[in-house]
Amino acid sequence: MKKDRVLVTSALPYVNNVPHLGNLVCVISADVYARYLRLKGENVIYVLGTDEHGTTTETRALKEGLTPREVCDKYAKIHKKIYDWFECSPDCWGRSSSKHNHELTKDIFLKLLRNGYIIESEVEQAYCEKCQRFLSDRYIFGVCPFCGYENARGDQCEKCGKLLEPKMLLQPRCEICSTTPVFKRSKHLFIDLPKIEPKLRKWIAKNESKWSLNARTMTHAWLKEGLQPRCITRDLKWGIPVPYKGYENKVFYSWFDAPIAYISITKENRTDWREWWLNPERVNLVQFMGKDNIPFHTILFPASLIGTGDNYTLMNEISVNEYLNYEGGMFSKSKHVGVFGDDAIDTGIKPDVYRYYIMVNRPEKTDTEFAWEDFMEKNNNELVANLGNLVYRTTSFVYRFMNGLAPNPKKPLPKYAQEFVKEWKAIVTKIDNALAKIELKRALRGVMELSKLGNRFFQEHQPWKGIKENPDEANTTIYLLINLVKDLAILVAPYLPATSCGIQEQLRISGLSWASLCQLSIEPGHTISKPKILFEKIDKAKVEELKARFSGQGKAEHPLAKLELRVAEVLSVVEHPKADKLYILKINLGKEQRQIIAGLRGHMPKEDLVGKRIVVVANLEPATLRGEESNGMLLAAVKGNQLRVLEAPRSKPGMRVYAEGVEFKSGLGRITLNELKEAKLAVEQGMVVSRANGKPKPLRTKHEPIKVDMPDGSSVE
Ligand code: 2FM
Ligand code: ZN
Repeated sequence: MKKDRVLVTSALPYVNNVPHLGNLVCVISADVYARYLRLKGENVIYVLGTDEHGTTTETRALKEGLTPREVCDKYAKIHKKIYDWFECSPDCWGRSSSKHNHELTKDIFLKLLRNGYIIESEVEQAYCEKCQRFLSDRYIFGVCPFCGYENARGDQCEKCGKLLEPKMLLQPRCEICSTTPVFKRSKHLFIDLPKIEPKLRKWIAKNESKWSLNARTMTHAWLKEGLQPRCITRDLKWGIPVPYKGYENKVFYSWFDAPIAYISITKENRTDWREWWLNPERVNLVQFMGKDNIPFHTILFPASLIGTGDNYTLMNEISVNEYLNYEGGMFSKSKHVGVFGDDAIDTGIKPDVYRYYIMVNRPEKTDTEFAWEDFMEKNNNELVANLGNLVYRTTSFVYRFMNGLAPNPKKPLPKYAQEFVKEWKAIVTKIDNALAKIELKRALRGVMELSKLGNRFFQEHQPWKGIKENPDEANTTIYLLINLVKDLAILVAPYLPATSCGIQEQLRISGLSWASLCQLSIEPGHTISKPKILFEKIDKAKVEELKARFSGQGKAEHPLAKLELRVAEVLSVVEHPKADKLYILKINLGKEQRQIIAGLRGHMPKEDLVGKRIVVVANLEPATLRGEESNGMLLAAVKGNQLRVLEAPRSKPGMRVYAEGVEFKSGLGRITLNELKEAKLAVEQGMVVSRANGKPKPLRTKHEPIKVDMPDGSSVE
C-alpha cells in the first residue's frame, strides 16, 4: 500500500525553562518541513507540545516556590506563546502531563507487562542526604567512565553520547548541592530490551537507510554494546503513577512517557488519531530532534511500542540537529547569556528574520553559532539586499512604469528569456530535492540563489532603459521577474511565512501551491498593489546594543534574589524584659518555629499581632538584642510616626514572598542588613515593591500580592 500521510513530530521541549534560540532549531525545522509538505498538498500533521515530567520540573518548582503542576501550567503557556510568535504551526499541540498521556502511558505499560517485557529488579539509587531526595539521572553529575568527560550527566554523557546509569559515574555529585550522594536500594521496573531486540533490529534494518548518519552511528554503537534492560520507573512524586502493586510511591521515567505524548497529543486533538498512529502501512513518520535524543527515538520508544504487540506507526525518517551555540559559548538562563524566546520578542526584530537566520545557520552536520554580527550581515546582505531588493525593484517597476499591470512579454519568448527560465527551473528542482531530503539549509540557500539570479537578470536587461529604448525587452524581463517573485512567495513560505504573505498581498495572489512553481501564471494585465518594503536593515549600533543586552554582563543579579522572604504566623508576643521598645515574637515558618525581636512596642498592642500572617526576612544574619536572640526580621512599612506590618493573610506560613521575574533560590546564604537595604523595598500605590534595578517589582506570594495601607513613599524595613 502506498503511504499517503506524513506525520511530523518535533522533540517536545522540556517545560521547566523558557526555550532559547538553540531549542527552537528543532521546532522550527519541523515547522518548515510540515509547511513544505502542506504546500505540496500532502496529508500532513505536525505534532508539538511540552515535556513536563521528571526531576527538572520538581527542581524548578522548589526554586520558584510553586507546585510542579503550577510550574508546568506557567511554562507551558510561555512555550506556547513563544512558538506562536515564531509562527510555528503545529496541527496538534499538547502536554505530556495531560490526562490523555497518563491513560496511554499506563495502557502501553500494561501491554508490555502482559507480553512479558517488564522485569523487576532492585537497584541502588543515588540519594542526596543533604537535599533529602533521590537524584534522578539528570541531576547527578560526575566523570564519564567511557571518555573521562567531567560533567557527564547520570543518564547520558553529552560528550561521547553513551547512555549511562548514575551508578556508572565516577566521582558522582548532587547537581543542587554538590554533595556526594549515597546509594540506597529500591525496587524498580525495567523494560526488557534484550527480549525485544530481535524485532527492534528488524525494524531498524528496514528503516535506517533513510536516517541521518549520526542517528545510524549512535544506534549501532548501542546495539553493538548489547542492549540492557532499561529502568522505566523513578522515585519521584511528579509524574505518571505506575499501576503496579508496590509502586504507589513511584512514577514512570519521563523518557518513557514523553515520546508516548506524541501519540496522546494527537489523540487529544483528533478523533482520527488511529489513522495516524496505528497505520504504519499508510503513514510516513518523520521525527525531528537534537542529537542527544537519538537513542530514545531509535531504541527506547520504538521498543516500547513494538512490545505492546499493537500495530503502531514507527519512525521512518529522523532529522537530527546538532547544537546552535551562542556567541562562542553556551546559552544560559541563569547567567543571562543568549537570546531566549521571550527576549527575541522584545528585540523588535521580526520572527521571519530569526527564522531565516536559524535555518540558514541550521546545525545540520556540526554545531553552529548564533552571532549578532553575522545575524546583521545575513539580514542586510541576504534578506534586504537580495530577496527584499528583488521583490521591491520588480513590483515598484510595475507600479511606477506599468500602471501596476503585469506587462505583455514578447512571444515566443526570445532565447535569452528561455535560457533564464531554464536556469530558474533547475534551481527550483534543486530546492525541491533538498527539501524532500529534509536538507533545509541547502534548500534555503537555493531560494537565495534563485533570488540572486533574478537580481542579475534585472541588472543585465536594464528595464529602466529598455522601457524607453526597447519596450519588448523591458516587458519580457519584468513579466518573467514578476512570475519569479511569485515563485519566491511559494518557496519562502515554509521558512518565512509572514514574508510570503507580504509578497502575495503585493502581487494580489493567494492560494499558492508547490504545483504552481515555474508556471507563468501571473498573466499580462494582472494588477498588483502598492509595493512595500519587506525587510529593514539592522545597523551596527543596534547590534552593539543587542550584543551587550544578551552578553550576561551588566545584568547583575537582582538584589531581591538574595533575600529569603517568607510568610510567618505570629504565635505569641511578650515584652522584652530589658528593652521598652521591643517585643519578643515566636513565629511559625511552616517547617520550623523561631524567635524574632521587633521594635513594635508603642506602635501596636501585642494582642493585635498574635495570629497575624506577617512577612519576614528569614535569612538575615541572627543578632542578639539585649540578651535575646533574633533569628530573622519582620517587615513593616514606615512613614514618620506611622507604621504597619506587612501581611499576607491568605498565604500559608512558610510560603515564599517573591517578585515576578526574579528567580528565587533555595539554600540562600545569610545576608546583612545592608544587603536587605539594597532591595530598596517601598510602598507604591498600596503595593509593596522593590525599587532596585529600575522598574519597581511588586512583591507577592503565589496566592496574593503584598498590599499595605500606607502612603506612597513609605519605606519598608
Ligand atoms: O531533549 C528534550 O528537550 C526532551 N524534552 C525531548 C523529549 S522528546 C519526546 F520524547 F518527547
Ligand atoms: Zn544535594
